[in-house]
Amino acid sequence: MSESGYMLPQSQNVKDFIKSLLDTSPPQDFTKEAAEKLLKILNTNESKEEKMMDNNKTQDNLMAAFSGESEANRKYLAYSKKAEQDGKTNAAKLFKAASDAETIHALKHFEVANKVGTTADNLLDAVAGETHEYKEMYPEFIETAEAEGNTAAIMSFTYAMQAEEVHARLYKEALENMDDTKEIFYYLCPVCGNIETSRPGKCIFCGVPGENFIKY
Ligand SMILES: [Fe+2]
Ligand SMILES: [Fe+2]
Repeated sequence: MSESGYMLPQSQNVKDFIKSLLDTSPPQDFTKEAAEKLLKILNTNESKEEKMMDNNKTQDNLMAAFSGESEANRKYLAYSKKAEQDGKTNAAKLFKAASDAETIHALKHFEVANKVGTTADNLLDAVAGETHEYKEMYPEFIETAEAEGNTAAIMSFTYAMQAEEVHARLYKEALENMDDTKEIFYYLCPVCGNIETSRPGKCIFCGVPGENFIKY
């Protein structure tokens, strides 16, 4: 049997073979009833296969929509900030409302795609994501930005890389201490995204005064 492509299930070859047995005289130990039964099973499997392929496509689409909506959310937030600076209050409000609408869409797509696990699963996923970013993604991006002489990008990537390493550690600690009931407060640097568990004198990465950190 030859290999078939993704869109043409392999069972087609088998079906053709069985049909040819029905058309000609089947071998002695292979009755017409057996051939028809086999064909029926193959047809059922095929429609299951097709359904699965459709489901996979929808799963991909949900994740593509999740990415698009997430991006639109941040983009409109940036546009809203700009409109506010320009004194265009109505445009600023519309951008802000639409940015929140995209968040609603993104969260729904993500939920329907079944991507929200248990909190332990989600913490693990977050550790993996942040670790990939600070160990692989940002070092590569920084290298390229250096080669291209893009100083602003080097700075933006470096702040993010340093902060992601802290995020990965905090997620790991949160996973290890998930059942602790003692409340923890987190302090976010509004410039570089560094997070501390107590208000620092100043940000260890970008030097922003501790009083500017946002408490959670
Ligand atoms: Fe992060
Ligand atoms: Fe900072």
